[in-house]
Amino acid sequence: MPEGTPPFWSARSLWPGWLFGFAPGGQEVLQGRANLSAVEIDAEILAHYAEGLEHGRLTGGPSLEMLRTQVLLERFLPVPPARVLDVGGASGLYASWLAGRGYQVHLIDPVPLHIEQAAAAGGFSVAPGDARDLAEADSSYDAVLLLGPLYHLTRRADRLRALAEARRVARPGGVIASAVISRYASTLDGFFRGFIDKPGFTALMAEDLRTGQHRNPGRAPEFFTTAYFHSRDDIAGEIIAAGLQLHDVLPIEGPLHWAPGVQDRLANPAQRQLILDSLAAMEHDPSMAGATAHLLAIGRRP
Ligand SMILES: C[S@@+](CC[C@H](N)C(=O)[O-])C[C@H]1O[C@@H](n2cnc3c(N)ncnc32)[C@H](O)[C@@H]1O
Repeated sequence: MPEGTPPFWSARSLWPGWLFGFAPGGQEVLQGRANLSAVEIDAEILAHYAEGLEHGRLTGGPSLEMLRTQVLLERFLPVPPARVLDVGGASGLYASWLAGRGYQVHLIDPVPLHIEQAAAAGGFSVAPGDARDLAEADSSYDAVLLLGPLYHLTRRADRLRALAEARRVARPGGVIASAVISRYASTLDGFFRGFIDKPGFTALMAEDLRTGQHRNPGRAPEFFTTAYFHSRDDIAGEIIAAGLQLHDVLPIEGPLHWAPGVQDRLANPAQRQLILDSLAAMEHDPSMAGATAHLLAIGRRP
């Protein structure tokens, strides 16, 4: 198994009973400490993030996911001081980076721990919320980031609702940047990292390939949580169905995510640049579209 890079699903799950109430339909409803009674999020997803490891996922050294996402955002975002809404911004890694570059950033997230961590980071405003029902006013942002919520909205109707909400709060011409997990991510991780030798993985992987519906019923720590894994065509179609203009869909890490030693190479400035240049050179080849852990879709409000 290649050493160095963390799997893209690296957090572990824990069940924080104090977070949940129970709705009449049998679906757990987040009650939380931040007046989130109207926010309904899958209990397994909440338990996964309540573990608190999301903050460390992208801060434990230079990560290709974060570096490449930053490169792509620099390419597509309007110049500072534009207003950016970071939906599902977790503990604020991208929000902090953007605020440091002079953007006016507001972050929302449904996980109370993420809200606490983001508020402690400072430099941007923070509120609890759900991508499907934003509290923000119409046309109030120059750009909206959805770097994670679309993974966890497993029903297409919910993903379209989140994208439509992003369209509503973006100004005309505003950018909506959406990250999704590639349909082929678990297969590639399975073979490159040896997950296929672990109990339960091949069944999970086969279902990901067949339907994109990723589940981890055994709660194996390294197998992520309830999610939808997109093909390139899936996310392109959803952007258009939500009434956005589709500008681009690009692999984030590309196949270099699985290159042996890539994490160490990122620490060397010349090699980091070589990696980023190589990814840029191949990013528009349709044959590379799924060979990545994540894709970034760029839409615009008409
Ligand atoms: C994989 S994390 C990504 C965090 C951060 N944006 C990043 O790219 O590092 C996914 C985030 O989406 C959030 N999330 C899940 N469901 C959501 C929803 N319905 N609305 C808004 N955010 C949601 C989670 O709480 C979590 O912070």
